[in-house]
Amino acid sequence: MATLVRRLLPVVVLVLIGCLCGRVVSSDYEILLEVKRSFVEDPENVLQDWSENNPRFCTWRGVSCGREPGDGSLRVVSLNLSDSSLSGSVSPSLGKLQNLLQLDLSSNQLSGPIPPNISNLSSLVSLLLYSNQLTRPIPSQLGSLTSLQVLRIGDNYLTGHIPASFGNLANLVALGLASCNLSGQIPPELGRLKSLQNLILQQNQLTGPIPAELGNCSSLVQFTAAVNNLNGSIPAELGRLQNLKLLNLANNTLSGVIPSQLGELSQIGYLNVLGNQLEGQIPKSLTKLGNLYNLDLSANKLTGEIPGELGNMGQLVYLVLSNNSLSGAVPRSICSNATSLEHLMLAQNQLSGGIPEELRECRVLKQLDLSNNTLNGSMPVELFELVELTDLLLNNNTLVGSIPPLIANVTNLQTLALFQNNLEGNLPSEIGMLGKLETLFIYDTQLRNPNGDRQLF
Ligand SMILES: *[C@@H]1O[C@H](CO)[C@@H](O)[C@H](O)[C@H]1NC(C)=O
Ligand SMILES: *[C@@H]1O[C@H](CO)[C@@H](O)[C@H](O)[C@H]1NC(C)=O
Ligand SMILES: *[C@@H]1O[C@H](CO)[C@@H](O)[C@H](O)[C@H]1NC(C)=O
Ligand SMILES: *[C@@H]1O[C@H](CO)[C@@H](O)[C@H](O)[C@H]1NC(C)=O
Ligand SMILES: *[C@@H]1O[C@H](CO)[C@@H](O)[C@H](O)[C@H]1NC(C)=O
Ligand SMILES: *[C@@H]1O[C@H](CO)[C@@H](O)[C@H](O)[C@H]1NC(C)=O
Ligand SMILES: *[C@@H]1O[C@H](CO)[C@@H](O)[C@H](O)[C@H]1NC(C)=O
Ligand SMILES: *[C@@H]1O[C@H](CO)[C@@H](O)[C@H](O)[C@H]1NC(C)=O
Ligand SMILES: *[C@@H]1O[C@H](CO)[C@@H](O)[C@H](O)[C@H]1NC(C)=O
Ligand SMILES: *[C@@H]1O[C@H](CO)[C@@H](O)[C@H](O)[C@H]1NC(C)=O
Ligand SMILES: *[C@@H]1O[C@H](CO)[C@@H](O)[C@H](O)[C@H]1NC(C)=O
Ligand SMILES: *[C@@H]1O[C@H](CO)[C@@H](O)[C@H](O)[C@H]1NC(C)=O
Repeated sequence: MATLVRRLLPVVVLVLIGCLCGRVVSSDYEILLEVKRSFVEDPENVLQDWSENNPRFCTWRGVSCGREPGDGSLRVVSLNLSDSSLSGSVSPSLGKLQNLLQLDLSSNQLSGPIPPNISNLSSLVSLLLYSNQLTRPIPSQLGSLTSLQVLRIGDNYLTGHIPASFGNLANLVALGLASCNLSGQIPPELGRLKSLQNLILQQNQLTGPIPAELGNCSSLVQFTAAVNNLNGSIPAELGRLQNLKLLNLANNTLSGVIPSQLGELSQIGYLNVLGNQLEGQIPKSLTKLGNLYNLDLSANKLTGEIPGELGNMGQLVYLVLSNNSLSGAVPRSICSNATSLEHLMLAQNQLSGGIPEELRECRVLKQLDLSNNTLNGSMPVELFELVELTDLLLNNNTLVGSIPPLIANVTNLQTLALFQNNLEGNLPSEIGMLGKLETLFIYDTQLRNPNGDRQLF
């Protein structure tokens, strides 16, 4: 009898609340219990207090309530069960929590589809389902959630296309769809998203062109579509994105020239187009980008000379132009104002002439890779003033002369590759003073090693 009372009590209380509020309680309480049933495993017991024995559902873990303005009843406004090791599925009943503003089920092991019923949550501001095992196409109905500001559903096994209906999400600030199995094209409709700041599409199987319409997303701060199968050329319209700080289009099959209009991205700090089929010259306009700290144009088919004006870029830390068909000399001015440069990677091109002694002006240089070019002359001693240098790769050039003993000054050196050159003479014994040296590649030269005990490669 006592047990029965205990079981019934919450129901009685609930009915009472329902009566007090003057409405039928097909309440959020019951909906939450339906939602609970779709979570089949709860190893951390996060849903322990989600129970008929505990009808004060607003106190349940992950649940936040607000009062309905009309009748003052308690309604769920936020449900956050992120990172809780839950498995099972995303319950269609969630679509009945009409006052929900935030739904965060990210970083669990939820599988199955995203139920279209979620699209009934017309007040929803934030929908976070990323890092689960969700499958099947994204329901296009989500495009009706016009209050949405944050939609992050990446790192799942979602398939199919990005719904064109997402172009209706006029308040969207962040759209995260990375690391899924999405295919098809980037819908040009996304160009209507005037509030969008983050568009994250990397690591899918997207094909076709980057829509020129994205140049209309005037609030865009980050756009990454790296590691897809996008083709066609980079639209010049992207140069209109005056707030863009990060553009990552690496590892696609983009072709054509790098549009000079990208030089108008005055805020940009990170620009990466590595691993495409871009051709033509490096536009000089890029050297106007005074906030750029990372410029990676490597593994393309770029030709012509390296613009000496790159040396004006005072914020540049990474300059990676390796694996292209660039020719001419390493510009003497490359370090003139690039005093922050730590990584200068120009390997695998057709660069000729000498190694300019002016590289000494890159005081904080850590990595210098000039390998696989046709540089000649001797190693300028000024290189060895670069005491921060950890990697010096000059192999596969036509350098002559000997290794200066001054090399002992570069005490942070870890990797030194000089093979496939025409260097001669003894390996200076000072190399023995380089305590951090891990890898020394000098074979195939005529050098002899005075430190017989050190292993050479
Ligand atoms: C959900 O909770 C986690 C952990 O407490 C928190 O990091 C996250 O920001 C919350 N989600 C939302 C949308 O507030
Ligand atoms: C989900 O939506 C479908 C289609 O509108 C409907 O038939 C179903 O009853 C809904 N499920 C719930 C639990 O609301
Ligand atoms: C949305 O709610 C309406 C009425 O509450 C219902 O008829 C419809 O089936 C719901 N749609 C989905 C997708 O759940
Ligand atoms: C996702 O794509 C990969 C590579 O194409 C494929 O091997 C995998 O089976 C796909 N997964 C799903 C769930 O479709
Ligand atoms: C959006 O971009 C396209 C292509 O760049 C352009 O033709 C169109 O006029 C733009 N629309 C708006 C509203 O800015
Ligand atoms: C892009 O790839 C598709 C096939 O996936 C092809 O039909 C189209 O011609 C390609 N476009 C360009 C510009 O290479
Ligand atoms: C591009 O692909 C290369 C080789 O697979 C990989 O090392 C690199 O991390 C990728 N870069 C980006 C930005 O995705
Ligand atoms: C050079 O880039 C091409 C793609 O443009 C890539 O296939 C190749 O592996 C790269 N080579 C090296 C040595 O990185
Ligand atoms: C050199 O770099 C500084 C700091 O980034 C910058 O303010 C200045 O305009 C640059 N000078 C030239 C000649 O580009
Ligand atoms: C230099 O060329 C060799 C042989 O083609 C290649 O294995 C190596 O990756 C290249 N190095 C760089 C830095 O591109
Ligand atoms: C030397 O560099 C050239 C590119 O400049 C490359 O084609 C060649 O394979 C490289 N040779 C070796 C042995 O690394
Ligand atoms: C090399 O190191 C020595 C001792 O630290 C220092 O006196 C000398 O100025 C350095 N030489 C150069 C060229 O940096």
